[in-house]
Amino acid sequence: MDRFLTADDLEKALRQDVMDGLTGEPKTLPAKWFYDERGSALFEDITRLPEYYPTRAERAILAERAPEIAIATRVDTLLELGAGSGEKTRILLDALGGTLSDYVPVDVSGDFLIAAADQIAHDYPALTVRAVVADYEQHLDLLPTGGKRLIAFLGGTIGNMLPAQRIHFLQGLRETMAPGDTLLFGADLIKEEDRLVRAYDDSFGVTAEFNRNVLRVINSRLGGDFVAEAYEHVAVWDAQNEWVEMRLRSAADQTVRIEALDLTVRFAEGEEMRTEISSKFREERLRAELGAAALTLDRCWTDAAGDFALVLAGPAA
Ligand code: SAH
Ligand code: AVI
Repeated sequence: MDRFLTADDLEKALRQDVMDGLTGEPKTLPAKWFYDERGSALFEDITRLPEYYPTRAERAILAERAPEIAIATRVDTLLELGAGSGEKTRILLDALGGTLSDYVPVDVSGDFLIAAADQIAHDYPALTVRAVVADYEQHLDLLPTGGKRLIAFLGGTIGNMLPAQRIHFLQGLRETMAPGDTLLFGADLIKEEDRLVRAYDDSFGVTAEFNRNVLRVINSRLGGDFVAEAYEHVAVWDAQNEWVEMRLRSAADQTVRIEALDLTVRFAEGEEMRTEISSKFREERLRAELGAAALTLDRCWTDAAGDFALVLAGPAA
């Protein structure tokens, strides 16, 4: 296991993000801080919700296309960014089995990642599994290179970056790619607004708990005193930016103290703080953004309903 993010680094980065986010106007918090062990487990619950179609759609595409991906790539290393439980990745591991020797799952949610990687190492004894606790927005150049790599970025997580961040990320990733490396990523597609919003505002309230988890992370890691229940979950479709935005709306006038930052912040009743964007795509935009990072879209597969896309891309010739 490699840890590019120690508990100290994580706390430092969280401090900076929370200071910037809570003193900005409007207030925002980056989505990566949803994911402590509880947040990662809540995300797994989300993937099983009837309203949350992306995971099922991506799994269906992977099941159909994994043999083709294996033949097209013939890689020895699978590097997975934002791996989470790695549950869908098993479809790839099975298909790539003929040539694959190494699996490198990368995630910021360290304990969850290590437990998932242990399980995969146990289930695939012929594979060398090397878990890396890292932030893929900061540590791309530290990730293992060498061999012929398939870089997987599943779940549509690329949509959780703002457009400028995403281009920057793709350019950075491209710089680490050698000829013969391949990028495979999932991207959620634009569809009717009500389905999009329901996927982020489920009837069981699991997504609401996931959203509020960022407040619990701040409480436990930075000595905050957020009363999580005093913030309402909000999910809206922003048609102009083509993303679903999650927010937390303060149910009352309230003041929050964050000891580790020596910071007191006031929330007005009804004030909304953005906690995540989840961009939805059209194929043309994916092609253009990849092109801007000197990557070529080679294949773009969708599920039968056309809800979600799985994209194979490589360094532009
Ligand atoms: N790939 C899985 C999990 C998606 S959830 C799936 O398709 O189901 C998003 C994952 O990305 C979480 O496990 C989260 O901890 C991780 N993540 C989010 N931001 C990250 C960052 N900046 N660096 C590394 N991992 C990150
Ligand atoms: C990880 N990511 C792709 C999820 C998404 O759909 O944007 C995170 C999520 N947020 C709310 N529900 C799921």
